[in-house]
Amino acid sequence: MTLSRYPEGRLRADDFKIETGAIPEVAEGSFLVRNLVVSVDPMLRIFIDRKPLGISSMPSLPLGATIPGAAVGEVVESRHPDYQPGDIVEGRFGWQDHAVSNGQGVNRVPRGLGGVENALGIGGLPGFTAYIGLETAGGVKPGHTFLVSGAAGAVGSAVGSLIRARGGRAVGIVGGEDKRRYLLDEVGYDAVADRLSPDFHAQLAQALPNGANVYFDNVGGPLLAEMMPYVAFGGLVLICGLMSQYQDGGAGGDRDNLPSVLHAVMGKGIRIESFSQYGRDALRPAFEAEITDLLAKRSIKPLVHIVDGLERLPQAQIDLFENSTTGKVVVRVAEAGAR
Ligand SMILES: NC(=O)c1ccc[n+]([C@@H]2O[C@H](COP(=O)([O-])OP(=O)(O)OC[C@H]3O[C@@H](n4cnc5c(N)ncnc54)[C@H](OP(=O)(O)O)[C@@H]3O)[C@@H](O)[C@H]2O)c1
Repeated sequence: MTLSRYPEGRLRADDFKIETGAIPEVAEGSFLVRNLVVSVDPMLRIFIDRKPLGISSMPSLPLGATIPGAAVGEVVESRHPDYQPGDIVEGRFGWQDHAVSNGQGVNRVPRGLGGVENALGIGGLPGFTAYIGLETAGGVKPGHTFLVSGAAGAVGSAVGSLIRARGGRAVGIVGGEDKRRYLLDEVGYDAVADRLSPDFHAQLAQALPNGANVYFDNVGGPLLAEMMPYVAFGGLVLICGLMSQYQDGGAGGDRDNLPSVLHAVMGKGIRIESFSQYGRDALRPAFEAEITDLLAKRSIKPLVHIVDGLERLPQAQIDLFENSTTGKVVVRVAEAGAR
Protein backbone atom coordinates (compact mmCIF):
# COMPACT_ATOMS: atom_id res chain seq x y z
CA MET A 1 0.00 0.00 0.00
CA THR A 2 1.60 3.25 -1.12
CA LEU A 3 1.01 6.98 -0.69
CA SER A 4 -0.72 8.24 -3.82
CA ARG A 5 -1.20 11.91 -2.74
CA TYR A 6 -0.50 14.04 0.30
CA PRO A 7 -3.68 14.25 2.39
CA GLU A 8 -5.39 17.62 2.66
CA GLY A 9 -7.15 17.75 6.05
CA ARG A 10 -9.13 14.58 6.67
CA LEU A 11 -7.75 11.36 5.22
CA ARG A 12 -9.42 9.90 2.12
CA ALA A 13 -9.20 6.36 0.79
CA ASP A 14 -7.65 7.63 -2.45
CA ASP A 15 -4.70 9.10 -0.54
CA PHE A 16 -3.51 5.48 -0.73
CA LYS A 17 -2.99 3.05 -3.59
CA ILE A 18 -2.39 -0.71 -3.83
CA GLU A 19 0.58 -1.60 -6.01
CA THR A 20 2.03 -4.99 -6.85
CA GLY A 21 5.67 -5.83 -7.40
CA ALA A 22 8.19 -8.62 -7.13
CA ILE A 23 9.35 -9.78 -3.68
CA PRO A 24 12.74 -8.12 -3.17
CA GLU A 25 16.03 -10.03 -3.21
CA VAL A 26 17.58 -10.76 0.17
CA ALA A 27 21.08 -9.27 0.29
CA GLU A 28 23.84 -10.45 2.65
CA GLY A 29 23.07 -9.13 6.16
CA SER A 30 19.30 -8.98 5.54
CA PHE A 31 16.23 -11.16 5.95
CA LEU A 32 12.81 -11.45 4.34
CA VAL A 33 9.69 -11.11 6.50
CA ARG A 34 6.20 -12.27 5.58
CA ASN A 35 3.90 -9.84 7.39
CA LEU A 36 1.11 -11.38 9.46
CA VAL A 37 -0.54 -8.35 11.08
CA VAL A 38 -0.03 -4.70 10.21
CA SER A 39 -0.71 -1.71 12.45
CA VAL A 40 -2.74 1.44 11.88
CA ASP A 41 -1.52 4.24 14.13
CA PRO A 42 -2.54 7.87 14.66
CA MET A 43 1.05 9.05 14.18
CA LEU A 44 1.19 7.64 10.65
CA ARG A 45 -1.09 10.54 9.78
CA ILE A 46 1.80 12.91 10.55
CA PHE A 47 4.38 10.93 8.59
CA ILE A 48 2.34 11.11 5.37
CA ASP A 49 1.81 14.88 5.50
CA ARG A 50 3.42 17.01 2.79
CA LYS A 51 5.18 18.85 5.67
CA PRO A 52 5.19 16.56 8.72
CA LEU A 53 4.44 18.57 11.89
CA GLY A 54 4.80 21.71 9.77
CA ILE A 55 8.60 21.61 10.13
CA SER A 56 10.86 21.53 7.13
CA SER A 57 13.60 19.55 8.90
CA MET A 58 11.41 16.43 8.95
CA PRO A 59 11.45 14.91 5.46
CA SER A 60 8.12 14.02 3.91
CA LEU A 61 7.45 10.53 2.61
CA PRO A 62 7.94 10.46 -1.18
CA LEU A 63 4.77 9.87 -3.20
CA GLY A 64 4.65 6.23 -4.29
CA ALA A 65 6.51 5.04 -1.17
CA THR A 66 5.13 2.19 0.95
CA ILE A 67 3.29 3.42 4.06
CA PRO A 68 5.82 2.83 6.87
CA GLY A 69 3.52 1.17 9.42
CA ALA A 70 4.61 -1.22 12.12
CA ALA A 71 3.95 -4.92 11.55
CA VAL A 72 4.55 -8.34 13.01
CA GLY A 73 5.82 -11.00 10.64
CA GLU A 74 7.62 -14.29 10.26
CA VAL A 75 11.15 -14.51 8.90
CA VAL A 76 10.91 -16.69 5.78
CA GLU A 77 14.44 -16.33 4.39
CA SER A 78 17.60 -15.05 6.05
CA ARG A 79 21.14 -14.05 5.18
CA HIS A 80 21.48 -12.34 8.57
CA PRO A 81 23.45 -14.13 11.33
CA ASP A 82 20.94 -13.22 14.09
CA TYR A 83 17.66 -14.15 12.39
CA GLN A 84 16.42 -17.58 11.30
CA PRO A 85 13.40 -18.65 9.26
CA GLY A 86 10.47 -19.08 11.64
CA ASP A 87 11.47 -16.19 13.94
CA ILE A 88 8.53 -13.91 14.77
CA VAL A 89 9.60 -10.27 14.71
CA GLU A 90 8.11 -6.79 15.00
CA GLY A 91 9.35 -3.73 13.16
CA ARG A 92 8.44 -0.94 10.79
CA PHE A 93 7.98 -3.43 7.93
CA GLY A 94 5.35 -1.27 6.24
CA TRP A 95 1.86 -1.74 4.87
CA GLN A 96 2.77 -4.64 2.60
CA ASP A 97 2.78 -8.44 2.60
CA HIS A 98 6.58 -8.94 2.44
CA ALA A 99 9.50 -6.77 3.54
CA VAL A 100 13.29 -7.01 3.60
CA SER A 101 15.04 -5.80 6.77
CA ASN A 102 18.60 -5.50 8.02
CA GLY A 103 17.40 -5.87 11.61
CA GLN A 104 17.51 -2.17 12.52
CA GLY A 105 14.62 -1.24 14.81
CA VAL A 106 13.43 -4.86 14.88
CA ASN A 107 12.19 -6.50 18.09
CA ARG A 108 11.80 -10.21 18.63
CA VAL A 109 8.24 -10.95 19.70
CA PRO A 110 8.50 -12.45 23.19
CA ARG A 111 6.68 -15.65 24.07
CA GLY A 112 3.77 -15.24 26.43
CA LEU A 113 1.92 -12.47 24.62
CA GLY A 114 -0.86 -14.72 23.32
CA GLY A 115 -1.81 -13.92 19.70
CA VAL A 116 0.90 -12.23 17.62
CA GLU A 117 -1.43 -9.22 17.22
CA ASN A 118 -0.74 -8.37 20.87
CA ALA A 119 2.81 -7.48 19.81
CA LEU A 120 1.25 -4.42 18.13
CA GLY A 121 -0.92 -3.62 21.17
CA ILE A 122 -0.28 -4.07 24.88
CA GLY A 123 2.98 -5.95 24.20
CA GLY A 124 4.20 -3.54 21.52
CA LEU A 125 4.40 0.16 20.72
CA PRO A 126 1.20 1.30 22.52
CA GLY A 127 2.03 -0.71 25.64
CA PHE A 128 5.63 0.48 25.60
CA THR A 129 4.41 4.07 25.16
CA ALA A 130 2.18 3.67 28.22
CA TYR A 131 5.12 2.20 30.15
CA ILE A 132 7.52 5.02 29.19
CA GLY A 133 4.84 7.62 29.95
CA LEU A 134 4.41 6.26 33.46
CA GLU A 135 8.22 6.24 33.90
CA THR A 136 8.32 9.88 32.77
CA ALA A 137 5.59 10.72 35.29
CA GLY A 138 7.78 9.28 38.04
CA GLY A 139 5.90 6.01 38.35
CA VAL A 140 2.58 5.20 39.98
CA LYS A 141 2.72 6.61 43.52
CA PRO A 142 0.34 5.56 46.29
CA GLY A 143 -2.56 7.95 46.59
CA HIS A 144 -1.91 9.59 43.22
CA THR A 145 -4.65 9.80 40.59
CA PHE A 146 -4.08 9.74 36.83
CA LEU A 147 -6.59 11.30 34.44
CA VAL A 148 -6.22 9.73 30.96
CA SER A 149 -7.72 11.04 27.70
CA GLY A 150 -8.35 8.71 24.75
CA ALA A 151 -8.57 6.10 27.49
CA ALA A 152 -10.23 3.36 25.43
CA GLY A 153 -7.62 3.57 22.65
CA ALA A 154 -4.53 1.39 22.33
CA VAL A 155 -2.30 3.55 24.54
CA GLY A 156 -5.04 4.67 26.94
CA SER A 157 -6.23 1.15 27.72
CA ALA A 158 -2.61 0.06 28.30
CA VAL A 159 -2.05 3.03 30.64
CA GLY A 160 -5.14 2.12 32.67
CA SER A 161 -4.13 -1.56 32.82
CA LEU A 162 -0.65 -0.70 34.12
CA ILE A 163 -1.90 1.83 36.68
CA ARG A 164 -4.40 -0.69 38.00
CA ALA A 165 -1.81 -3.49 38.11
CA ARG A 166 0.55 -1.21 40.07
CA GLY A 167 -2.12 -0.27 42.59
CA GLY A 168 -2.78 3.29 41.40
CA ARG A 169 -6.02 5.14 40.70
CA ALA A 170 -7.03 5.85 37.11
CA VAL A 171 -9.84 8.03 35.74
CA GLY A 172 -10.48 7.76 32.01
CA ILE A 173 -12.07 10.01 29.40
CA VAL A 174 -13.88 8.33 26.48
CA GLY A 175 -16.39 9.15 23.78
CA GLY A 176 -19.37 6.86 24.32
CA GLU A 177 -21.09 4.58 26.79
CA ASP A 178 -19.80 1.27 25.31
CA LYS A 179 -16.21 2.40 25.79
CA ARG A 180 -17.01 3.66 29.29
CA ARG A 181 -18.39 0.26 30.29
CA TYR A 182 -15.42 -1.56 28.74
CA LEU A 183 -12.93 0.51 30.74
CA LEU A 184 -14.82 0.00 33.99
CA ASP A 185 -15.60 -3.71 33.54
CA GLU A 186 -12.58 -5.04 31.63
CA VAL A 187 -9.62 -2.69 32.01
CA GLY A 188 -10.27 -1.74 35.63
CA TYR A 189 -10.38 2.06 35.45
CA ASP A 190 -11.69 3.39 38.77
CA ALA A 191 -13.97 5.93 37.10
CA VAL A 192 -14.66 6.97 33.52
CA ALA A 193 -16.20 10.18 32.18
CA ASP A 194 -17.95 10.25 28.81
CA ARG A 195 -16.89 13.38 26.92
CA LEU A 196 -20.01 13.13 24.71
CA SER A 197 -22.42 13.09 27.64
CA PRO A 198 -24.17 16.35 28.70
CA ASP A 199 -23.00 15.82 32.29
CA PHE A 200 -19.36 15.17 31.35
CA HIS A 201 -18.07 17.83 33.76
CA ALA A 202 -20.27 16.59 36.61
CA GLN A 203 -18.86 13.08 36.03
CA LEU A 204 -15.29 14.46 36.16
CA ALA A 205 -15.94 16.52 39.28
CA GLN A 206 -17.31 13.46 41.03
CA ALA A 207 -14.40 11.25 39.95
CA LEU A 208 -11.73 13.80 40.88
CA PRO A 209 -12.63 15.35 44.25
CA ASN A 210 -8.95 16.25 44.86
CA GLY A 211 -7.95 16.74 41.24
CA ALA A 212 -5.61 14.62 39.12
CA ASN A 213 -1.92 14.46 39.97
CA VAL A 214 -1.14 13.56 36.36
CA TYR A 215 -3.15 14.29 33.24
CA PHE A 216 -1.91 11.70 30.70
CA ASP A 217 -3.02 13.37 27.49
CA ASN A 218 -3.38 11.39 24.28
CA VAL A 219 -5.47 13.91 22.34
CA GLY A 220 -4.40 17.55 22.95
CA GLY A 221 -6.61 20.19 21.31
CA PRO A 222 -9.41 22.01 23.14
CA LEU A 223 -9.85 19.11 25.60
CA LEU A 224 -6.46 19.94 27.17
CA ALA A 225 -7.64 23.43 28.19
CA GLU A 226 -10.93 21.98 29.41
CA MET A 227 -9.07 19.55 31.67
CA MET A 228 -6.77 22.11 33.36
CA PRO A 229 -9.27 22.88 36.18
CA TYR A 230 -9.16 19.17 37.12
CA VAL A 231 -5.36 19.01 37.47
CA ALA A 232 -4.28 19.23 41.13
CA PHE A 233 -1.87 21.82 42.56
CA GLY A 234 1.68 20.86 41.58
CA GLY A 235 0.33 18.37 39.06
CA LEU A 236 1.80 17.23 35.76
CA VAL A 237 0.29 17.43 32.29
CA LEU A 238 2.03 14.67 30.35
CA ILE A 239 1.69 15.10 26.59
CA CYS A 240 1.72 11.66 24.98
CA GLY A 241 0.07 12.64 21.69
CA LEU A 242 -2.15 15.16 19.94
CA MET A 243 -4.67 12.84 18.30
CA SER A 244 -7.31 15.58 17.90
CA GLN A 245 -4.86 17.83 16.02
CA TYR A 246 -3.29 15.48 13.47
CA GLN A 247 -5.93 16.00 10.79
CA ASP A 248 -6.15 19.78 10.82
CA GLY A 249 -2.52 20.84 11.01
CA GLY A 250 -2.65 21.70 14.70
CA ALA A 251 -5.46 24.22 15.14
CA GLY A 252 -7.75 21.88 17.07
CA GLY A 253 -10.55 24.44 17.53
CA ASP A 254 -11.49 28.05 16.89
CA ARG A 255 -10.64 29.41 20.31
CA ASP A 256 -7.18 30.36 21.53
CA ASN A 257 -6.94 28.24 24.67
CA LEU A 258 -3.39 29.20 25.55
CA PRO A 259 -4.26 31.98 28.06
CA SER A 260 -6.47 29.68 30.15
CA VAL A 261 -3.83 26.92 30.06
CA LEU A 262 -1.12 29.37 31.18
CA HIS A 263 -3.39 30.69 33.89
CA ALA A 264 -3.70 27.18 35.34
CA VAL A 265 0.05 26.54 34.93
CA MET A 266 0.92 29.70 36.86
CA GLY A 267 -1.89 29.54 39.41
CA LYS A 268 -1.42 25.89 40.37
CA GLY A 269 2.26 25.31 39.64
CA ILE A 270 1.42 22.75 36.97
CA ARG A 271 4.19 21.37 34.74
CA ILE A 272 3.63 20.43 31.12
CA GLU A 273 6.00 17.83 29.67
CA SER A 274 6.05 15.60 26.62
CA PHE A 275 7.79 12.28 26.11
CA SER A 276 8.53 9.77 23.39
CA GLN A 277 9.03 6.03 23.57
CA TYR A 278 11.52 6.43 20.73
CA GLY A 279 15.11 5.81 21.84
CA ARG A 280 14.08 4.19 25.14
CA ASP A 281 14.89 0.60 24.12
CA ALA A 282 17.02 0.05 27.23
CA LEU A 283 13.72 -0.25 29.14
CA ARG A 284 12.22 -2.79 26.77
CA PRO A 285 13.28 -5.95 28.65
CA ALA A 286 11.73 -4.62 31.89
CA PHE A 287 8.56 -3.66 30.00
CA GLU A 288 8.28 -7.09 28.33
CA ALA A 289 8.85 -8.86 31.65
CA GLU A 290 6.08 -6.85 33.34
CA ILE A 291 3.57 -7.33 30.51
CA THR A 292 4.15 -11.08 30.05
CA ASP A 293 3.90 -11.56 33.81
CA LEU A 294 0.60 -9.63 33.99
CA LEU A 295 -0.76 -11.59 31.02
CA ALA A 296 0.27 -14.91 32.60
CA LYS A 297 -1.52 -13.92 35.82
CA ARG A 298 -4.52 -12.74 33.76
CA SER A 299 -4.21 -9.38 35.49
CA ILE A 300 -4.59 -7.60 32.15
CA LYS A 301 -6.87 -8.43 29.23
CA PRO A 302 -5.63 -7.18 25.87
CA LEU A 303 -8.28 -6.04 23.42
CA VAL A 304 -7.38 -6.06 19.73
CA HIS A 305 -9.83 -5.29 16.94
CA ILE A 306 -8.73 -7.29 13.87
CA VAL A 307 -9.68 -6.18 10.36
CA ASP A 308 -8.98 -8.65 7.55
CA GLY A 309 -7.21 -7.84 4.29
CA LEU A 310 -4.43 -5.50 3.17
CA GLU A 311 -6.92 -3.57 1.01
CA ARG A 312 -8.80 -2.48 4.15
CA LEU A 313 -5.80 -0.67 5.65
CA PRO A 314 -6.79 2.83 4.40
CA GLN A 315 -10.30 2.61 5.85
CA ALA A 316 -8.94 1.23 9.14
CA GLN A 317 -6.57 4.22 9.34
CA ILE A 318 -9.41 6.66 8.51
CA ASP A 319 -11.63 5.05 11.16
CA LEU A 320 -9.08 5.82 13.90
CA PHE A 321 -10.07 9.47 13.43
CA GLU A 322 -13.67 9.23 12.24
CA ASN A 323 -15.15 6.24 14.00
CA SER A 324 -12.73 4.95 16.61
CA THR A 325 -13.25 1.48 18.07
CA THR A 326 -12.19 0.21 21.47
CA GLY A 327 -8.66 -1.15 21.96
CA LYS A 328 -5.89 -1.62 19.42
CA VAL A 329 -6.77 -1.89 15.71
CA VAL A 330 -4.65 -4.12 13.44
CA VAL A 331 -5.09 -5.47 9.94
CA ARG A 332 -4.41 -9.17 9.34
CA VAL A 333 -2.65 -9.84 6.05
CA ALA A 334 -1.78 -13.54 6.59
CA GLU A 335 -2.74 -16.31 9.02
CA ALA A 336 -0.79 -16.21 12.29
CA GLY A 337 -0.28 -18.89 14.91
CA ALA A 338 -0.31 -18.29 18.68
CA ARG A 339 2.82 -17.35 20.64
N1 LIG B 1 4.72 9.72 22.78
C1 LIG B 1 4.89 8.59 22.11
O1 LIG B 1 5.98 8.02 22.08
C2 LIG B 1 3.72 7.97 21.39
C3 LIG B 1 3.82 6.69 20.82
C4 LIG B 1 2.68 6.13 20.23
C5 LIG B 1 1.48 6.86 20.19
N2 LIG B 1 1.44 8.12 20.72
C6 LIG B 1 0.21 8.92 20.71
O2 LIG B 1 -0.70 8.35 21.63
C7 LIG B 1 -2.02 8.78 21.27
C8 LIG B 1 -2.97 7.59 21.35
O3 LIG B 1 -2.59 6.63 20.37
P1 LIG B 1 -3.43 5.28 20.21
O4 LIG B 1 -2.63 4.36 19.41
O5 LIG B 1 -3.95 4.88 21.54
O6 LIG B 1 -4.67 5.81 19.34
P2 LIG B 1 -6.15 5.18 19.21
O7 LIG B 1 -6.13 3.75 19.59
O8 LIG B 1 -6.63 5.57 17.88
O9 LIG B 1 -6.97 5.96 20.35
C9 LIG B 1 -7.04 7.35 20.34
C10 LIG B 1 -8.25 7.81 21.13
O10 LIG B 1 -8.31 9.23 21.01
C11 LIG B 1 -9.65 9.65 21.15
N3 LIG B 1 -9.91 10.75 20.22
C12 LIG B 1 -9.82 10.71 18.88
N4 LIG B 1 -10.12 11.92 18.36
C13 LIG B 1 -10.41 12.72 19.43
C14 LIG B 1 -10.80 14.08 19.57
N5 LIG B 1 -10.97 14.86 18.49
N6 LIG B 1 -10.98 14.58 20.81
C15 LIG B 1 -10.83 13.79 21.89
N7 LIG B 1 -10.49 12.48 21.83
C16 LIG B 1 -10.26 11.97 20.60
C17 LIG B 1 -10.53 8.45 20.85
O11 LIG B 1 -11.22 8.19 22.04
P3 LIG B 1 -12.70 8.66 22.38
O12 LIG B 1 -13.39 9.06 21.13
O13 LIG B 1 -13.26 7.47 23.04
O14 LIG B 1 -12.53 9.83 23.34
C18 LIG B 1 -9.56 7.29 20.61
O15 LIG B 1 -9.95 6.13 21.32
C19 LIG B 1 -1.92 9.40 19.89
O16 LIG B 1 -1.96 10.81 20.02
C20 LIG B 1 -0.56 8.94 19.40
O17 LIG B 1 -0.02 9.81 18.47
C21 LIG B 1 2.53 8.67 21.33
